[in-house]
Order: sequence, then C-alpha cells, then structure tokens
Amino acid sequence: MDVYKINGQKRLQGTIKVSGAKNSAVALIPASILAGSPVTIEGLPEILDVWTLKELLEEIGGDVSFENGTMTIDPSKMQGMPLPNGNVKKLRASYYLMGAMLGRFKKAVIGLPGGCFLGPRPIDQHIKGFEALGAKVTNEHGAIYLRADELRGAKIYLDVVSVGATINIMLAAVMAKGQTTIENAAKEPEIIDVATLLTNMGAKIKGAGTNIIRIDGVEELHGTNHTIIPDRIEAGTFMIMAAAAGDGVTIDNVIPFHVEALTAKLREMGVKVEENEESIFIPKSVNLNAVDVKTLVYPGFPTDLQQPFSLLMTQATGSSVITDTIYSARFKHIDELRRMNASARVEGRTAIIAGPTHLQAASVRASDLRAGAALVLAGLIAEGETEIRDISHIERGYSDLVEKLSGLGADIRRVSIEVAQGSTKED
Ligand code: EPU
Repeated sequence: MDVYKINGQKRLQGTIKVSGAKNSAVALIPASILAGSPVTIEGLPEILDVWTLKELLEEIGGDVSFENGTMTIDPSKMQGMPLPNGNVKKLRASYYLMGAMLGRFKKAVIGLPGGCFLGPRPIDQHIKGFEALGAKVTNEHGAIYLRADELRGAKIYLDVVSVGATINIMLAAVMAKGQTTIENAAKEPEIIDVATLLTNMGAKIKGAGTNIIRIDGVEELHGTNHTIIPDRIEAGTFMIMAAAAGDGVTIDNVIPFHVEALTAKLREMGVKVEENEESIFIPKSVNLNAVDVKTLVYPGFPTDLQQPFSLLMTQATGSSVITDTIYSARFKHIDELRRMNASARVEGRTAIIAGPTHLQAASVRASDLRAGAALVLAGLIAEGETEIRDISHIERGYSDLVEKLSGLGADIRRVSIEVAQGSTKED
C-alpha cells in the first residue's frame, strides 16, 4: 500500500503552480462527445479522474490522446454503448456522460456514480431536467437508463442549486429542439468554463454564471480548442497551506476573483493576501484569529475548502465554528485531526475547533479527497512524521502534489509500506 510520509514543521517558501480545474475537467471531457470533429483541451490536471474519463471515452469508441496536460478527443466514431459497470463507478462525475450521451445519441445507460461519500448525494435534479427535455429515465439494477425519441427545449427550475444538474442539463439541451431555460442555476466558474467550450463548439448559451441560463438548441456541434480554467479549490488549498506553514508563498495560475470568499476569511483571520493578476502572494502569518465560516453555493465559501480550512482553525487563537450547509457528513477528517492533537468536535453539520494547538504526527486515513488535503496540511505543520493512508482519494483531485510541495521545501514522500497480514484497508 502506498502512503504519504510527511516530516512536519518545515517552513515553506517559493512558488507553487496550480493545475487545471478538476471539476471543469470532468465535465469538459464528456462534453466533447457532443462534437462532430476533434476537440482539444489544454491544461488538464493529470489526476486519476481524468485518466478514468479518457478510458471511458475510449470504451465508447473515442480516439483519445493525452500528453502534457493536453487531451485531443476525436468523437466521430463514438457510439451510444451502455456503461452500466466498471470505470463509470470510479468517479462521481461520470454522471456527465448521461447528459452528453443523451444529447448526442438520444440514449445512455450509466452505472450510478461513485466518488467521495459526503452524506447523501442525490441526482434527482439531473433526472428532472432530462425528463423535462423529453427523456424517459429509469433506474434498473444500479444503472440509470435514459432514452428519448427527440429532445425538446423546456423551462426547468432547479429545486436545489446544483453544479452537476446545471451542467448536465446544458449538455443534454445544446442540441435539443427549441429553447431551454434553467432557472435557479448554479453559478460556479466551472459552469462558465463548460459553457465557453460548448459555445466554441457552436452551441448557443446565454447567462452561464448567472442563475438563469438560456440555451437555443442547434442541429450540430463541431470540434474546437479550449484551455481549462485554473483549479480554484487547489489554489485555495495552497493559500490555506501558505497561511499555516508558509514563510512567503506565491500561488501561481489562479484567478483571484474565483477565491474571493476564502481571501476574505483569511484576511479576517489576520492573514495578509496580496492579489496580482494571475497569482497570489501570502507572506508568513502570525497570530491567527478565530473566525466563523458557513459554506454556501458560489460565490459563497466553498464546501470543498471546509476541510482544509478547519485545519487552519486549529492554529487560530480562540474558538472557531465551521458549518457545512451543502453536505451533511463532510467531517470525517475531524476525528483524524483529533488523533493529531486537535481540539475539535462535530455537532450535526458544524465543527467547533479550539486553538491554537500544537499538532503531533500520527498515522491517519484520508476518508475522501478534501479530508486528505486537510491531513496533508496537518502533516506539514505537525511535529514528527505523519503517515497518510488511502492516498488514492487525494490523487483523484490533486496532481503532482508531492512534487509541488517538495518544491516549496516540504519533506513529503510517497512510499510503499507493508500491511500486516489479516489487516485491511479499513483498519
Ligand atoms: N443535490 C440534490 N439533488 C441533485 C443534485 C444535488 O439534492 O440532483 C444536493 C447535493 O446533495 C448537495 C447540493 O445539492 O447537497 C449541491 O450538490 P451539487 O450538485 O452542486 O454537487 P455536485 O455537482 O455533485 C460538485 C463538485 C463537488 C462540490 C459540489 C458543490 C464536481 C464533479 N463535484 O458536486 O466537488 O463539492 O459541486 O460545490 O463538480 C470536490 O471537488 O471535492 C467535490 C466534492
């Protein structure tokens, strides 16, 4: 089994570069299915989810190359094959294959998506959208079956503001007959990124980034070149790391506007954040103040930074409160942080964290992607050697993390360890 070993308390200094946005990548790649000719996407992160999607597109007949962050997808020979099992269950975002395959082939069979367990993660709003467009949707033996004789534009009001449903409905609607309106749409930058790709493929989309998106269906789409936006969650993770363990860190390839909610909270804590056009500099931080945070849909404080930010709260003076309004069970990292001496408890959707605490190294488990990121940051500031298990969760979302952190002076290694006989991953 591979683990990360981190010798903590090294002060970090220098420049760290942010990769392309994971949550854009996992939608942009399926969007290429809708084109009639090759699509090239540049700046993709080299993470497990991207490799899995490459394999999925190949399974349906796509000709795909991926090198140095650039993926070229020739979708012309793709077919609407069923994908009930296998790779499709490795990542939650395989749900975008539903919208894209329905849009192109008017049919799709997709196994119910996997991904991090963060509490219930229904896809009822995606289904509601597909049905409104004219698809018949059934759930059989753990797979979703979608079929339509034709897709017709419709007015769809989302009961819950959902990134996934907004993008999935866009994918299904761009080649539907007539106009589709998505009301109460999500406004995340990743939605704008996907809309930009689709528009450059010939789609007619207005309002992406606002809560009303209008789509006029077109007959066909064509290939294009697209450069992905930087990953605002990776950037945010590095900003938090710089505040916790930095002696002056520049985070490069970031759109400061995308991380404003985090910047505001860091400043409230007493962290200096210097914004440039495409980079952010965070000098050494001293005397952090306790703050309260509530996660919200964009442009509010992102749920994806709740776990890394709660690590920073262990270093602030006083009692901090962080509430996750998006996911009910995204607090598995708190138990692990407690093993490292953090003073924290969870009440419902809220974690209450007292600080500052002197963290100590321990052997801990990454229960999910962002929990893993929080534990890596904890290892960087803890005394002694921290061992992080189940790092595959982390590598689903952060590319070249060991190399990037080592570049700042962190002592982090990815090593294979022997697991004692009879013990399991769940130990
Ligand atoms: N929801 C419903 N019904 C639906 C869809 C969502 O009730 O049909 C609820 C969810 O249970 C949740 C809320 O609505 O409480 C928001 O879910 P959303 O659909 O926006 O989440 P998602 O699209 O499944 C994306 C990111 C997540 C990120 C959330 C929220 C991708 C692939 N994933 O998930 O990213 O936490 O938006 O911003 O884009 C991560 O990167 O670590 C991650 C989990």
